[in-house]
Amino acid sequence: MSAFTLTRLLPADAAGATLRADVRAGLTADPKQLPPKWFYDARGSELFEEITRLPEYYPTRAERAILRERSDAIAEAAGARTLVELGSGSSEKTRLLIDALRRRGTLERYIPVDVSDSALEQAGQALLADYPGLTVHAVVADFTERLDLPPGPGPRLVAFLGGTIGNLLPAERAAFLGSVRAALGPRDALLLGTDLVKDERTLVAAYDDAAGVTAEFNKNVLSVLRRELGADLTPEDFDHVALWNREQEWIEMRLRARTALTAKIPALDLAVRFAAGEELRTEVSAKFREAGVRTELKEAGLELTHWWTDEEGRFALSLARPLG
Ligand code: AVJ
Repeated sequence: MSAFTLTRLLPADAAGATLRADVRAGLTADPKQLPPKWFYDARGSELFEEITRLPEYYPTRAERAILRERSDAIAEAAGARTLVELGSGSSEKTRLLIDALRRRGTLERYIPVDVSDSALEQAGQALLADYPGLTVHAVVADFTERLDLPPGPGPRLVAFLGGTIGNLLPAERAAFLGSVRAALGPRDALLLGTDLVKDERTLVAAYDDAAGVTAEFNKNVLSVLRRELGADLTPEDFDHVALWNREQEWIEMRLRARTALTAKIPALDLAVRFAAGEELRTEVSAKFREAGVRTELKEAGLELTHWWTDEEGRFALSLARPLG
């Protein structure tokens, strides 16, 4: 048997159908909104990688610092034979975890789960070359829709890194954590990355960098709509907006129409009117506090057992287990 397998739990056109449904619902809603997952075509993924290297965008570096510092402690607490990673992308930071689990001698199988099969292929092949003896079972799936994992020897560690859980609204987070809980056995664990509440200037700068990369990333969703649905939406007609929502404790990215305009979306047989200055919300990126994470985990039937932050307290990794 080959050490690399890829299972597709997403039917080939699932993405297309979901995109059409999301765009129709989001652009006919008031206020207008789109789910952030549509940023990530090949160009969007490239722009996100660029964002992670910006001086203002601290989360990736902060999380990597925690992993460097704590991967052995995480490996010891988890003792995992199978590592499942949700939203694995390039699997770059994951290597720190894989290394630590290999040093302990427990890790046998790595299961990266992502919506992008190209990212899974690339990352999977690279890992195989670097970790002889490791079985990589990649899964193409949208884990926000449903979470069913291929079996792997327990104990399993399910990692959801990068702070991506912040893209989910509170009710969606509760549903997602509930489905993680349902997928875990009594000896399995969840490793969760969360960006933390901090001063507004630092937060806003991370989503509105001086070089304009995040602005380009934000506007890239318009290119996706243009290519996939024939929408005549143009980046030049919109301004990038990043703001801190103090009540909800989340960053919002929006696209603000510079003038009144009407966009035709042929694939949906739809015309969408924007008033001058009207905003389309493209992303929510929630920031967390320890007490809130503990509570949300508990409400999903999970117990927070470890809380690790970087030295500056910008980002946290939590380890949680099913409540007995
Ligand atoms: C990949 C969802 C963690 O919310 O910080 C980066 C995406 N958006 N800059 C985040 C993002 C704007 C990122 N996540």
